[in-house]
Amino acid sequence: MTLEDIAAQIAQTNGGPFGPGLNPVPGEGDSHAQIMFIGEAPGFHEDKAGRPFVGVSGQLLRRTMSENGFPPETVFITNIVKFRPLENRDPQPFEIEFFKPFLDKQIEIIDPKIIVTVGRFSMYKFLGEGVSISKIHGVPRKVGKYYIFPMFHPAAALRAGEMMKEFVEDFKKLKEFVETLDQQVPPVVKVPPEKQMELI
Ligand code: URA
Repeated sequence: MTLEDIAAQIAQTNGGPFGPGLNPVPGEGDSHAQIMFIGEAPGFHEDKAGRPFVGVSGQLLRRTMSENGFPPETVFITNIVKFRPLENRDPQPFEIEFFKPFLDKQIEIIDPKIIVTVGRFSMYKFLGEGVSISKIHGVPRKVGKYYIFPMFHPAAALRAGEMMKEFVEDFKKLKEFVETLDQQVPPVVKVPPEKQMELI
């Protein structure tokens, strides 16, 4: 199964619990990305474009990604629900549940090292509902085989100056974290053919 297959399956749900008349927003980016960003739900602009995070808050997210060395095309960006909830209300538990198999399959195929949860709802998926985003944002935790890196939603950053500061700082922390992870990978030593026998 490929990411394109999943996108086709999402389109076939015809909006699922949200009903017909909406455009699917399956997500986009590198199918081998090291980092996956998972937001909440598409809004008006995302529904129109069929692409995640392209409205005002999305532009902030994408710009801050690029400024910190993660151009959007090098990561994978998606949401926990794949169609726009009307009036941009919070996604409901049964809506999140409906799209769970699609998101889980996307995660399985991409197999990222780090999952950045953007906002509360995707954070709850990995860390449970008992956690408070203002207490744990910017600090990675290992859950199963993935590092979960919780971040504030860019819409929250746009609403409050203090959160904007934290939002930008969390990206710097993410960058540092990725660098330390990369350093832990032993370098691949290329042995020229004539020396290979010496290793046996
Ligand atoms: N907010 C989200 O959580 N996701 C989007 O795609 C756009 C806005």
